[in-house]
Amino acid sequence: MALVNLKDILHGAQSRRYAVGAFNVVSLESLQAILEAATQMRSPVILNVAEVHFKYVDLETIAPVIRRAAEKAAIPAALHLDHGVSFEAIMRALRAGFTSVMFDGSTLPYEENVQQTREIVKMAHAIGVTVEAELGVVGGAEGSSEATDDRGMLTDPKQAEDFVKRTKVDALAVAIGSAHGLYRAKPKLDFKRLAEIRDATGIPLVLHGGSGIPDEDFKRAIELGICKINVYTEMAQIASHRIRGILDKDPSFISFPDLLIAAREAMRDLVMEKIKVFGTADVCSSPNAFCPTCQGCVVGSDEYSRLASQIAKAVIEQLNKE
Ligand code: 13P
Repeated sequence: MALVNLKDILHGAQSRRYAVGAFNVVSLESLQAILEAATQMRSPVILNVAEVHFKYVDLETIAPVIRRAAEKAAIPAALHLDHGVSFEAIMRALRAGFTSVMFDGSTLPYEENVQQTREIVKMAHAIGVTVEAELGVVGGAEGSSEATDDRGMLTDPKQAEDFVKRTKVDALAVAIGSAHGLYRAKPKLDFKRLAEIRDATGIPLVLHGGSGIPDEDFKRAIELGICKINVYTEMAQIASHRIRGILDKDPSFISFPDLLIAAREAMRDLVMEKIKVFGTADVCSSPNAFCPTCQGCVVGSDEYSRLASQIAKAVIEQLNKE
C-alpha cells in the first residue's frame, strides 16, 4: 500500500521546501525504529540498505521483510539501495523488489560513470524503479568510529548538467563538503556550489553524510534544492551509547532483547528529531501529493474505520433484503 519509488516520494519536496530523510536499515530494530518514527510524525521516509552493510543484513532476506513492514505502514516509504557500487548489487536489488537504487560510480572516470549510470537507468526505468547517482565524491565512511575531515571531491555544476542530461537519473547525490561518518571539525557546506548545481540540473538533489551537520545548515541546504538527506552514523552512535549506559549501570544485565529495544527507542527518537528538522513532519496528515499512490493516512485513520464499517453494514443490509 505505502511502498513507492524515489520519484513519488520526492515529488513536492522541491516546491514545498522539505527533504525526505533516508535512514539505513542494518537490523530489524533499525527498520522498526525508522518506521515507528515516520508513522508517529506522519512523514514519508526512505529505507536505505547499503551495499557495505550486506554483511549485517542479507539483501534477499531483508527485502521481503522491509517490503511487508513498509506496505503495512500508514505512510509512504521507499525501499532504496544505498551506494550500490557493483553491477551485481544493483541487479540483486532489482530482483528483490527494491523500488529505487543508487548507483555510485563516483570514483570511476567521468565518461565511465556516465555510461554505467545510463545503462542502469535504462534497465531500472523499464520496470518502474528510480535511480540516484553520485557525481563528485563524498568522502569518509558511514558508521566509522574514526572522525574524518575528508571533503572528497566537490561536484562541478557544469559537469552535473551534462551528467543529468545524458544519464536521465531521478536524483543526484552531490559533494558539497559533507562526509560520511563522524566529523573531525564542523563541516563547511559550499552553498554557492549547491545553488549552481540546482540551477544547472533541475532535479532533486541528495545530501549524504547527514550525521553531525548542524540544523541551520540542513535548513539552508533544503532551501537550495536538497530533497533527500541520508543519515546513519548518528543512529549507530546513539544506539551504542544507550546500550553502554544500561550496561555501565548494571554490568550483570543480560537481557539481550531488552538492550535491543532500548537501542530501537533511541534510534526512533533520533529519527523523529531529524524528520522535524527536514520539514516532513505532518506531510501525511491531510490529503497530499502521495494520496494517489499511498492512501496510508486514510487507511490508518479512525475516519477510515468508521467509513469502512458503515459500508460493510450497508452491504449486509442490502444482501439481507435480496
Ligand atoms: P552518515 O553515516 O555520515 O550519516 O551518512 C549516511 C549516508 O550518507 C548514507 O549514504
